Amino acid sequence: MEFYEVINKRRTIRDWIDMEVSTEQIERIIDAGLAAPSNDHMRRWEFILLHTDEEKERALQFIAESSKKQTDSQYIPDDEKTQMCYGYAIPRQYAMFRNASFVIIPLFQTIHGIYNVTDLSGLNNFASIWCVIENILLAATAEGLGASLRIPTNEESENVRGLLNVPDHYVMPCYIGIGYPDENAKKIQQHIYHAKEKIHYGNW
Ligand SMILES: Cc1cc2nc3c(=O)[nH]c(=O)nc-3n(C[C@H](O)[C@H](O)[C@H](O)COP(=O)(O)O)c2cc1C
Repeated sequence: MEFYEVINKRRTIRDWIDMEVSTEQIERIIDAGLAAPSNDHMRRWEFILLHTDEEKERALQFIAESSKKQTDSQYIPDDEKTQMCYGYAIPRQYAMFRNASFVIIPLFQTIHGIYNVTDLSGLNNFASIWCVIENILLAATAEGLGASLRIPTNEESENVRGLLNVPDHYVMPCYIGIGYPDENAKKIQQHIYHAKEKIHYGNW
């Protein structure tokens, strides 16, 4: 797939058909992640892969509880398209990983944590893992697959870390589901912007 086609085709997918993704595809996708820019050139990134029903159900159990809290909190964004997006996404927070062929849990190393920083460069390792994540999302698209994304909330991240024996100093930025998109699923409208509306030549 041509590069800009991949960029424009990538969407967050939350509904899947029941079709297996191969381990070779997943390895190519993670290799794409590992090619991302790294703040300290060390690429201190690891990936836990969940594939069997048992593995997924065990590690995803905490999503069900937290996403119920998200639903209960009834956060209503004031923008109509965002409301539609939330209304569609929140009830799917568990299923969009449970029903994905693979779930990737990316992990990045941080010695001093990410909450005690004094300037932006203190977040470099966090920024780098998001470069990894974007490469993964694009590589999945290039493979003809889709990807779902969720940020762990509340104690979810710590619970998953404990359950999966993640060593100290590694942080989980998100869950990534990978699978074959259900092409019949509802398409969520997005705001579309073009460079001409966003560029400020010289100054704002
Ligand atoms: C930092 C970040 C956090 C996100 N968190 C979630 C999430 O917790 N649950 C979810 O369903 N989607 C999540 N998304 C996906 C966004 O909802 C999605 O990217 C956005 O609606 C734009 O749609 P698109 O990805 O199809 O272009 C997240 C995306 C980003 C970049």
